Amino acid sequence: MSAPDTSPLLRALRGDRPDRLPVWFMRQAGRSLPEYRAARRGTAMLDACLTPALAAEITCQPVRRHGVDAAVFFSDIVVPVRLAGVGVQIAPGVGPVLERPVRTAREVAALPELDPAALEPIREAVGLAIAELGPTPLIGFAGAPFTVASYLVEGRPSRELALTRALLREDPSTWHALLGWVARASTAFLQAQIEAGASAVQLFDSWVGALSEADYREAVMPHSAAVLAAVRGLGVPRIHFGTGTAHLLCALHEAGADAVGVDAQTPLDEAVATLGSRVPVQGNIDPQVLGAPWAVVDEHVRDVVRRGAAAPAHVVNLGHGVPPDTDPDVLTRLVALVHSLGSGSEPSPERGPPVAAETTS
Ligand code: CP3
Repeated sequence: MSAPDTSPLLRALRGDRPDRLPVWFMRQAGRSLPEYRAARRGTAMLDACLTPALAAEITCQPVRRHGVDAAVFFSDIVVPVRLAGVGVQIAPGVGPVLERPVRTAREVAALPELDPAALEPIREAVGLAIAELGPTPLIGFAGAPFTVASYLVEGRPSRELALTRALLREDPSTWHALLGWVARASTAFLQAQIEAGASAVQLFDSWVGALSEADYREAVMPHSAAVLAAVRGLGVPRIHFGTGTAHLLCALHEAGADAVGVDAQTPLDEAVATLGSRVPVQGNIDPQVLGAPWAVVDEHVRDVVRRGAAAPAHVVNLGHGVPPDTDPDVLTRLVALVHSLGSGSEPSPERGPPVAAETTS
């Protein structure tokens, strides 16, 4: 059974203000939870992603513990790369590491196409997760072509993305062939999750903020737009997220998203001023604040919700992923706080009562 359209998350993603603000966290299914560490013990990250019962269990853990309004599928942006037959692992504490980086026209041409049949463990894991989640929606996801390509080109996590940006600039035809390949793999990954019952999807372009808007629009956006367009007819809302993207918010929306994820560097009211009053936003609690005393967390969350009131609809989230050292109890408390704030659009006491209109009589 998939989640009903009346769930707070799905209503907000369609531009509505439900009575309760929906909240979930990027990287909620992961290292901050002791039950995650226990479940994962002895299993490599990508093997865990491809073991359906384990992936489903980890997907459900944060819903049970925190009462978040959505589960996010436990997987990784490089899972479709692995399923296509490319040698990649996730090194603990580091991230995706390729056996051989992909940098030349020949290496790109040799990338094997992902056979949709290989996605069976993904469909199975999604099916098991939604059976347990009942009315709570499951968010499926994929990596956007730029961010996944950056791992293929660099071979491992890199701050500067120098080789990626050099390829983009110096060899456009290889670049476009590479992004086309990733776009097809990410599309198949998303389609499998939606067909198996995911109620919404998020396209992660975590590192795209490294590009200028002109480079984004020319060299990247058509490929992200192709992924978002391919799942458009499947009837689930699409969230598009990146970090360092204050200058790219409109482009992320124009690529074909129903809602835009905002990082912690851009206040939500400013993001709304940029995006216009019709685009639902998601975000953008500063992950670093989670380690502060509760009074600081409380004030910051209220500020985020107040600024989010400028949007037609708001899905509360962090501006990026949960840091691994986060105290899980802070996340549970934060969910309760968000849920105590109603639809998020009422005037809050700190703002004072609404100013009465002047009477002329
Ligand atoms: O959000 C969730 O809880 C669902 C699962 C999820 C993971 N990765 C699990 C994971 C999701 C949505 C992702 C997406 C992902 N993966 C992104 C985009 C989101 C983002 O945070 O920017 C990126 C860039 C990756 C690539 C990746 N995978 C990196 C950079 C790392 C290492 C950093 C780290 O946190 O360890 C991973 C590993 C990874 N992916 C872990 C998890 C739970 C940690 C694995 C472990 O337990 O050792």
